[in-house]
Amino acid sequence: MESTHSIKIFTVVGARPNFMKAAPIIAAIQGYNERLALSPNLDRANDSNLRIRNLLVHTGQHYDQAMSEQFFADLSIPKPDVHLGVGSGSHAAQTAEIMKRFEDVLLRERPDLLVVVGDVNSTLACALVAAKISYGANGARPLIAHVEAGLRSFDRAMPEEINRILTDHIADLLFVTEETGLKNLREEGIPAEKIHFVGNTMIDSLLNFRAKAERSDILNRLRLRKPNPESGSTHDTARYALLTLHRPSNVDQPETFLNILEGMQELLSSCPVIFPVHPRTRKRLTEFGFQRFFTNEDGPREETLRSPRANGRVHLVEPLGYLDFLCLMAHAAVVVTDSGGIQEETTCLGVPCVTVRENTERPITVKVGTNVLAGTGKEGIRRAIRQQLASMVSGSVPEGWDGKSAQRILDVICRELEKKRCSGTVLAGQN
Ligand code: UD1
Repeated sequence: MESTHSIKIFTVVGARPNFMKAAPIIAAIQGYNERLALSPNLDRANDSNLRIRNLLVHTGQHYDQAMSEQFFADLSIPKPDVHLGVGSGSHAAQTAEIMKRFEDVLLRERPDLLVVVGDVNSTLACALVAAKISYGANGARPLIAHVEAGLRSFDRAMPEEINRILTDHIADLLFVTEETGLKNLREEGIPAEKIHFVGNTMIDSLLNFRAKAERSDILNRLRLRKPNPESGSTHDTARYALLTLHRPSNVDQPETFLNILEGMQELLSSCPVIFPVHPRTRKRLTEFGFQRFFTNEDGPREETLRSPRANGRVHLVEPLGYLDFLCLMAHAAVVVTDSGGIQEETTCLGVPCVTVRENTERPITVKVGTNVLAGTGKEGIRRAIRQQLASMVSGSVPEGWDGKSAQRILDVICRELEKKRCSGTVLAGQN
């Protein structure tokens, strides 16, 4: 007999770094349902063999084609079931708008469990709504699962730090990517039974899509592949560096932004620097009159690549999709960034990374990986770049970053929902 009910899960995404963290979870749920459908001996009346209905909710925090849709295409994520369409705004306005719109959807759909990933405003906003919602007189609400729990920069001036701490403290299931996350959560008094070390779903995506990313033509488009007269090959990749900057603390202050650009000068004299520029950063560099540091061509000119000296300017390009960026990162001589995720991706790829921040919530990338913290002073950045270019260290890949994190998460989710059901709590899908 066909089971008439299912488990209902909401998976929330909102901003660019969410998509690659959520994609493997969505795929794991699809895989689970397919296996269930194909199991010949399954007792379909048995409640532990429930199909999972996963509804994908996009808050619309990021909305440009390049910041959002391109990632859905690259990562084969299905179209969102619900789009809240909130767009940009101040932190308060954006968070409040997500909360208002998400509450209606939650009350209408009554999922059994909510998955939020990372540390963006969408993560906290949706978790907060779910923590306080009541489906009925008995006060039932969905379980809240936080993927990438426990990371701490210990810098509360970072909006993401506030989002991380608050989300962790209202979540029921905390999925941790690195050992420091376990320690941080323990020290903050989170009960051990809520915490699960599962590895890193962002790395699941990287390993899944690494081969496909190699087929990207981004290196040709940016003229970073040059003919090699000695080998006769036309596919030698130029030596280049990759830069990303978007943190308000780095790009909203002209002095800090200028320091970083001046810190890059040394690199610019030895190789081209490619800078896929975030919309916030683009606005600022125009506002601050920093155009002199940049070329607006798509990529370096041929003579730049042939010459041992670059042309002294950073090559600005539009924000890139997941596959193009992964390809560009994998072949870079060094990556300079203020992103959190890129510190992890370069560690997995064994590519030297210079993080232009005073702290990192991802210390494993410094301890075992290829990352160094440079701060945001000119000299520190120069030193770190020099050190990284000379370094032969390829680092190692942290424990559990093995491509299987999403499956581990789904196993825990199924177990916890089964426990909830056995304890007499009616699942929303059974109403
Ligand atoms: C957000 C996350 C940050 C993450 C980053 C990745 C928070 C607090 N911050 O920062 O953790 O690393 O995403 O990009 O959630 N904009 C566009 N088009 C878009 C999106 C944004 O033009 O599709 C512009 C808008 O002017 C907007 C600004 O970028 O005001 C900033 O966007 P916002 O989502 O507020 O924060 P991010 O800086 O992207």
